[in-house]
Amino acid sequence: MTIRHFRRDDDLTPAEQLEVLDLADRLKADRFASQALAGPRTVAVMFDKHSTRTRVSFCVAVAELGGFPLVIEAASSQLGRGEPIADTVRVFDRQCAAIVWRTFGQERLDEMASISRVPVVNALTDEFHPCQILADLQTVRERHGRLAGLTLTYLGDGANNMAHSYLVGGATAGLHVRIACPGGFSPDPEIVVRAEAIAATTGGSVTVTDDAKEACRGSHVLATDTWVSMGQSDAEAREAAFAPFQLDSALLGLADPTAIVLHCLPAYRGKEVTAEVLDGPQSAIWDEAENRMHAQKALLVWLLAKSTPPTGRST
Ligand code: CP
Ligand code: NVA
Repeated sequence: MTIRHFRRDDDLTPAEQLEVLDLADRLKADRFASQALAGPRTVAVMFDKHSTRTRVSFCVAVAELGGFPLVIEAASSQLGRGEPIADTVRVFDRQCAAIVWRTFGQERLDEMASISRVPVVNALTDEFHPCQILADLQTVRERHGRLAGLTLTYLGDGANNMAHSYLVGGATAGLHVRIACPGGFSPDPEIVVRAEAIAATTGGSVTVTDDAKEACRGSHVLATDTWVSMGQSDAEAREAAFAPFQLDSALLGLADPTAIVLHCLPAYRGKEVTAEVLDGPQSAIWDEAENRMHAQKALLVWLLAKSTPPTGRST
């Protein structure tokens, strides 16, 4: 039995990430080319947190692959009343072809993946948002024609899921990843070390700085994210700390003239990004949001093709 999961960005090697991105481009050009879930086979899509893009894009992707997306609000399931993850997985993996889960701690997702006999996909944890980075990479390649060697700058909360996934997923793609964040909001050092190790093999690099201007200078992609992620509460203190890292026209003006702007959304105009930049001509946010669907469709097809469920199983 071989089961491939996508728990974090480095579950795909650089070559595998490229395979998924190439497939995403093919499935964007020909949306119904794969019927990998025909039957229909069911994919459980479960949420412990709010979602708009992830919910829509996974449901559309599964449906277009010929499958059935079973959306579960965790709070209304027995998991939400304390049933163990291990018992929940055993119900899902006997009936579903894959499990997509948005939850809190990464250890919850890792536990599910360690037990599941079907692929488990991280639809966002506190630590990583790897599906978003696949869509972002697809968008960057569409706009710039390549990935390796480009510079991507992320501004804001360096300790959140987006920063960590840009570090690991960006390094995997051979990007020069710059994280600009205030002291006290730096990325997890273990994740920085991991990204540096990957970058050493792909020709990319990793920089963590508190100098927003230097981080933006000459960059090909400027990205940001909410200053208050789901589950966080200290909004006022966080907004004060992050104010110098607002993505505005002045910072965009320091970037390469061809630079694009990314934001995973939802965005808070006037906080982490100005409306002028978010809705301006260099913004690629709507392609980025659409690419969630294409990238995740490719990911599901790829994971299912690489996974061999236990013999005698019907899912
Ligand atoms: N970018 C993203 O994951 O959006 P949702 O929270 O709406 O799913
Ligand atoms: N960092 C944000 C991303 C939302 C898609 C959060 O976790 O809330």
